[in-house]
Amino acid sequence: MVLYFSATGNTRYIARELARALDDSALDLREKIRDKDYSPICSEKPFVVCAPVYVCEPPRFLAAFLRKTELRGNRDLYFVFSSGGYSGISAYLGRWLARKQHMRYKGSADYTMPRNYIANNSYPELKTEEIERRIRLADQKISETAGAIRSGERLKSRHIWLWELAVTLPFNPVWYRLRQGVKDFHVSDACISCGSCERLCPLRVISLRGGKPVWNGHSCAHCMSCIQNCPVDAIEYGKITAGKKRYLFQKYSYVVAKEGTRRKT
Ligand SMILES: Cc1cc2nc3c(=O)[nH]c(=O)nc-3n(C[C@H](O)[C@H](O)[C@H](O)COP(=O)(O)O)c2cc1C
Ligand code: SF4
Ligand code: SF4
Repeated sequence: MVLYFSATGNTRYIARELARALDDSALDLREKIRDKDYSPICSEKPFVVCAPVYVCEPPRFLAAFLRKTELRGNRDLYFVFSSGGYSGISAYLGRWLARKQHMRYKGSADYTMPRNYIANNSYPELKTEEIERRIRLADQKISETAGAIRSGERLKSRHIWLWELAVTLPFNPVWYRLRQGVKDFHVSDACISCGSCERLCPLRVISLRGGKPVWNGHSCAHCMSCIQNCPVDAIEYGKITAGKKRYLFQKYSYVVAKEGTRRKT
C-alpha cells in the first residue's frame, strides 16, 4: 500500500501513479493525521511511504504519525521523497522510522519536483519550462521505481554525509521555532469564506472566525496547503508572498496527461 501526504499535489501524483503501476492502492494520510487516528493500517503488499521534504527531512507531523501507527501485514517499508532538489537527511530518517516500526527498510527514491515553498525568499521562482521539465522527468522515473519495488529490490537514494546529519539534526528545531511562525499569515478581502484552508491544514492550526481564517498557536509545518490551495489567492505570508505565483501540481497536470490507463511494470 502506498501511503502519502501532499500539500500541493506533487507527492500525491507520484503516490497515485506508483500505486497504479503496482496494482496497489494509495492512501491519503491527511485526514488520519488531522483526526489523530492512529488505528493500524494493513497491507499484504510492501508499504511505500511518499512524502515531501521539509527543511531537509520528511514532515515532522508525518514522522510522528508513522511512529504511532502500526503497519500490519507486509514487513517491507519503502520511502519516496519529493523535494525541490535536495532531500537532505530524509533517507536517514526513513531508515530510523523503519527500525522503530520493526520493519525492513528497503531504501528510498528521490524525486525532484517544483518547489512549493513560497513563504521564504531564498529560492527564485521557477520558470514554467523548468516546472514542466521536472514533472516530465519525475513521471518517467515512476516505472523504474515501481519495477524495483515489484521485484523486491532496494531503492537507492543519494549518499548522506555525516556533516549533513551534524548540521540538520540540531539546526531544524531552531529553524522551526524561529522561522515557521504563524503570526505573519493574513487574509485579504478577496476571501470568499470557502473553508478550504481550515479543512486542509494537517495540524488544525486554522479556524474560521466570522467566515475568515485565523491562525492559532505560534508555529506550524509551513506545508503551504492553506496558502497554495486558496481558490482566490487571498492568503499571504507577511510581504514575502505578495505577487508570487501560487503553485499546485494540478495546474501543470497537462504535462503528463495520458490517454487511457497508465503503465504497468
Ligand atoms: C516548509 C517547506 C520546506 C521545504 N524544504 C525543502 C528542502 O529542504 N529541500 C527541497 O529540495 N525542497 C524543499 N521543499 C520543497 C518541497 O519538498 C517540494 O516542493 C515538494 O515536492 C512538495 O510536495 P507536495 O506538492 O506533495 O506538497 C520545502 C517545502 C516546504 C513547504
Ligand atoms: S481558502 Fe481562501 S477563500 Fe477559502 S476560507 Fe481560506 S482564505 Fe478564504
Ligand atoms: S497553517 Fe497552513 S502552512 Fe501551516 S500547517 Fe496549516 S495548512 Fe500548512
